[in-house]
Amino acid sequence: MTERIFNFSAGPAVIPLPVLEEAQRDLLALPGVGMSVMEISHRSKTFDEIIQSADSGLRELLNIPEDYAVLFLQGGASLQFAMVPMNFLSLDSSADYIVTGSWGKKAVKEALKFGTVDLAANMADGGFTRIPNQDELQLNPSAAYVHLTSNETIEGVEWKSEPEIGDVPLVADASSSILSKPIAVEKYGLIYAGAQKNMGPSGVTVVIIREDLLPRSRDGLATMLDYRTHATNKSLYNTPNTWGVYILNLVCQWLKEKGGLAAMQRENEDKAKLLYDAIDATEFYRGHADPDSRSMMNVTFRLPSEDLEKKFAGEATAAGLDGLKGHRSVGGIRASIYNAFPRTGCETLVEFMKEFEKKNG
Ligand SMILES: Cc1ncc(COP(=O)(O)O)c(C=O)c1O
Repeated sequence: MTERIFNFSAGPAVIPLPVLEEAQRDLLALPGVGMSVMEISHRSKTFDEIIQSADSGLRELLNIPEDYAVLFLQGGASLQFAMVPMNFLSLDSSADYIVTGSWGKKAVKEALKFGTVDLAANMADGGFTRIPNQDELQLNPSAAYVHLTSNETIEGVEWKSEPEIGDVPLVADASSSILSKPIAVEKYGLIYAGAQKNMGPSGVTVVIIREDLLPRSRDGLATMLDYRTHATNKSLYNTPNTWGVYILNLVCQWLKEKGGLAAMQRENEDKAKLLYDAIDATEFYRGHADPDSRSMMNVTFRLPSEDLEKKFAGEATAAGLDGLKGHRSVGGIRASIYNAFPRTGCETLVEFMKEFEKKNG
């Protein structure tokens, strides 16, 4: 099969077609280099230009202030669940975690291995359907940091703005919302995100860290787990994922050509509205998240029975709409519609939903 289908996967996820085409065109030899990007030294001038360009692409798109370092690491967001507390949580301090879904829970589980964790809010009741209000947060003004998950990929709930947390550094797992809309980076101490949803292939993790936090890293950490190593060596202490950084750079260029993140946000809101309107139009489909906490990237909904959900996902796959089965831990249907996912795919899904209801409702 060489036809591209509509890929609703939560990640690794759809990559912009022009990016894939450019990578394909230059796969055997980068122009003027005569070797593929996977065959050149990470210390070569060519790769240096690529990583610098990826760095400045992210800085431009996200409007990252100068006093932040951008790091290209490995180990996924899952390693960041550990690196954040390893670096910033000491035995005599505690961190506040706001848990809005399955990924936040995992972040807590990991942090507990390194120190004291307080749950500033835990939205587990009702199955993680909403973001807490400001007055529901129990914040400790002397916490080492406050951690939140910008968008819970599994449940489909998303923060629309940052909570007020005073002077404590805000740490965000932005894996499934980064680059989907503009964000105020200056409100964060650290943002981390795996690349495989909105930035490129798996295997690269972006960390954006305010430089004044670096001296707070705990001494005695393994070299590779210490943020200072990567900041000092500009992500080249060891061999980075050169291919991943190359694709991430092309994705940044694609986003800039599209008009940046404000333009991207308009497209994403429009795509998400198509799906949420279709869900709200009938009793047959039931959105998982509360309307004001709904994710723009992962649209989660239920059908009247698990059997129907199974049938829905199976028939959708056969119709060229792939990856709609909800995460194995929660079931239901999940349509992941990241930046590169086309509007026509959302329109096709809406038509499919109407037809499916007609036949099975
Ligand atoms: C919000 C969020 N955090 C963390 C992870 C884990 O990421 P990784 O597989 O890159 O470790 C994911 C993966 O889907 C995610 O969606």
